[in-house]
Amino acid sequence: MTTEFSVRGARDIVADPATRPEALEADSLVLFLTEGGVATGAAADLDRATGGLLTRLVASGELTGKRFETVSLLAPPGLRAPQLLVVGLGKRDELDAGTIYKAAATATRQLAARPRNRVGLVADGSWTIRQMEQAVAGGAVGMVGQDLYRAEKRRSRFGTTIWVGVLPDVVQRGAIIADGVNLARRLVNMSPDDMYPQTFAEEAAAVAGRTGLEIDIWDEARLVRERCQAILAVGRGSHRPPRLVVLRHRTSTSADDAPELALVGKGVTFDSGGLSLKPSESMLTMKCDMAGAAAVLGAIATIAALELPIHVVAAVGLAENMTGPAAYKLGDVITARSGTTIEVHNTDAEGRIVLADVLDVVKGLRPGRIIDAATLTGACMVALGYDVAGLFTNDQPLCDELSAAARAVGEPVWQLPMYAEYDDQIKSEVADIKNVGEGRWGGAITAAKFLERFVGGIPWTHVDIAGPAFAEKPRPWTDGGGTGAMVRAFVEFARGA
Ligand code: BES
Ligand code: MN
Ligand code: ZN
Repeated sequence: MTTEFSVRGARDIVADPATRPEALEADSLVLFLTEGGVATGAAADLDRATGGLLTRLVASGELTGKRFETVSLLAPPGLRAPQLLVVGLGKRDELDAGTIYKAAATATRQLAARPRNRVGLVADGSWTIRQMEQAVAGGAVGMVGQDLYRAEKRRSRFGTTIWVGVLPDVVQRGAIIADGVNLARRLVNMSPDDMYPQTFAEEAAAVAGRTGLEIDIWDEARLVRERCQAILAVGRGSHRPPRLVVLRHRTSTSADDAPELALVGKGVTFDSGGLSLKPSESMLTMKCDMAGAAAVLGAIATIAALELPIHVVAAVGLAENMTGPAAYKLGDVITARSGTTIEVHNTDAEGRIVLADVLDVVKGLRPGRIIDAATLTGACMVALGYDVAGLFTNDQPLCDELSAAARAVGEPVWQLPMYAEYDDQIKSEVADIKNVGEGRWGGAITAAKFLERFVGGIPWTHVDIAGPAFAEKPRPWTDGGGTGAMVRAFVEFARGA
């Protein structure tokens, strides 16, 4: 597979803080425009350089600056570049990092439809450093599609991307962040016949080798020795055995201390539903069920590449939920690593069972805080749709910090309540708990209540990314497939924490 995680960020994405955009030598130049706003900033500069072309186009209604509108101007007067692509940012007072990230991705996605040698993008001087980083990241994500298995590629990465008006270290950080997002996207987009517990673990080992992360891979025998009967149960229906992978990023001073942060990911490499088999339509996209694990790997790889001064562990539980002869069954009682017994009422509620063991392993490392990411419930998508991740917590300050970090980079999240009475729904007649609530209503919350049993009171926030992890259809800023959801938010959280 092609995209490599480069430790120092892509070398083909460079800064040009000094050159005036009109003088930039490039095949295409990208300008970002807010609604009706050619009066200031980079738009005003290019309007002047083109002899008022942009003003005239705005006046005639050809150019509006509406969110993600793209207008391609060929042979614009006064510019060295033979093409100017103007991308809309929407209303100026609503402008945020998420819009800038997506607008940059929209521009590069469109331009990457055919090979280009040099593409210049013009940042506006009014953007914050964080917004500039996200612009660079979005630009590097947009030019990568889902071409892994196509002979004829639909997107080609530019020879060189030049960011005008952005400082080199900001460009470098943006490119590093994009590497993490693109890594998570690639792992999700891989065929589930190529991406299974062992191959995910091998990918993690390769990432660790490139970024200097410590890595520990637990194979089946180790999982048995560690009493990880919950992960093992979910994996039993597949001929591909489960794995648990722990990665660690230490700082120079964190030799023996407990990690400040633990990131935990659901890595169900394919979710058929098991014996509670999914209908065919719901199964089609279930290669995305390891997106939590991919996000956590992308985030810790980025944290290492940025050399963030924080001690972080990432742990992912990898299993394939299948229906083979040894598959776990309804009515089975599993003793999880923590000793808690789980009665299985639905083998399709497998993610929480996998996470029960991963959370227990992480708990043993005594982290200050735990954040998990999981494509856990369809119910969360019913509540929040495709674009918004659900947050669930036992610690409000942690949840607030995470949601502020997500907001700062433009990843939409919304907290749902951990209503205490919903805990009653996972009581079992024969075991300590059962793996589903009573009926389907509130299913995202009862799933979170289940996870809460395994965090042992450590400050924890669960992020249900069932909606945002995977785009079933193309959008202006993405070809669809894996999105890398939460990589940017987790990295931003680690920077602030
Ligand atoms: N992986 C699914 C959740 C999911 C659904 C993710 C759609 C992405 C898109 C999860 O394992 C699952 O099957 N959950 C069940 C739980 C139910 C059986 C209690 C669900 O949401 O239907
Ligand atoms: Mn399932
Ligand atoms: Zn699942």
